[in-house]
Amino acid sequence: MDSNPATTWGIGNYSSMARRLMPVAEAAVAAAAIRPSDRVVDIATGTGNAAVLAASRGARTTGVDFEPVMLSLAERRATESALAIDWLLGEATSLPLPDGCADVVLSVFGVMYAADHAAAARELARICAPGARLVLAAWMPGTLLPAMGRVVGDYLPTPPAGSGPPSRWGDPEAIDAILASAGLHVTSAVSHRLHLDFTDAEAATALLVDSAGHVVAERDRLHAEHRWNDLVADLRAFVDRHGAVDTDRFVLTSDYLLVTASTDTVSPTSTEADATLQPGR
Ligand SMILES: C[S@@+](CC[C@H](N)C(=O)[O-])C[C@H]1O[C@@H](n2cnc3c(N)ncnc32)[C@H](O)[C@@H]1O
Repeated sequence: MDSNPATTWGIGNYSSMARRLMPVAEAAVAAAAIRPSDRVVDIATGTGNAAVLAASRGARTTGVDFEPVMLSLAERRATESALAIDWLLGEATSLPLPDGCADVVLSVFGVMYAADHAAAARELARICAPGARLVLAAWMPGTLLPAMGRVVGDYLPTPPAGSGPPSRWGDPEAIDAILASAGLHVTSAVSHRLHLDFTDAEAATALLVDSAGHVVAERDRLHAEHRWNDLVADLRAFVDRHGAVDTDRFVLTSDYLLVTASTDTVSPTSTEADATLQPGR
C-alpha cells in the first residue's frame, strides 16, 4: 500500500487518537454480535480498529478507507497480529465492493465524514446482503470533536460544501432520515460517553492538535502568518473549558451515538427507537 498522504487524514499522528477510540470500536463490534461466518466490512476503517476486532472474532473482514496512509498503518497492524484482512482503497460514496457482499457493516467515526451523506447511505445499503446488520458510531452534535471543529475553523480553509456537518450522523432524528433515504431502518440509537484521560490540559491540547491532520496541514502557513500560536492558545482555552481535573488526571469526555440499523423492511416504531435513547453515560 502506498503510504503517501492523499488527504489531510494522512497527515499528523492520527494513530494516537485511534488508540484512544478503541473502546468505541469494541462497543460497535459487540453491538454487531459478529460471528465467524459473517462477512464484515468496516467503512472508513482508519488504522483498522473495528476491522481488527471483527477479524479477531473469526469474521472474514474487509477494511475500506480513502487514505492510503491509514490503510498502510492498518495493514501493518493486522500483519503484526497475524490477522488476514482485505484492505481496500476506496471512497465511502462509491465503495469498491459488489452489491450484497456484507453481513455486517461497521463504521466508527468514519462514514459520517463523507461529503455526500445520502450517497454514502446508498452505498451502505447497496453492499448489505439481505438481513445484514449495520452498526455506526458518530460524534453527537456539539460534543468535543464537533465543537473543536468550530474553534479551529476560524484558522482553516473553508471546507467544500457538503450535505452538512458530520455530526448529523450522531443526531438521532437526522440519522434516522439519512438511513431511511437509502431504505435502511434504525433499530437502536444509544448515546455513550467516551473518556479521554491525560496527565494535564497541555497534553490533551497536544493530542488534539497532533492527531488532526487538517490542522497539522495548515501549520506552516499559520506559522508564516504568525497565527499558529493563537490557534494553539484558542484550543488550549477550549480544552480548559471542556475538560475536568479528576484527582491527578485531566479528563475530556465526548458523547457519541451508537446506531444499529438493518435492511429489514419491518421498521421499529419511532417509540421503540426512542426508548433506547439514553442521555450520555
Ligand atoms: C476519525 S477517522 C476514524 C477511523 C477509524 N474508523 C477509527 O475508529 O479510528 C476517519 C476515517 O475516515 C476516513 N474517511 C473520511 N472520509 C472518507 C470518505 N469519504 N471515504 C472513505 N474514507 C473516509 C479517513 O481517512 C479516516 O481514516
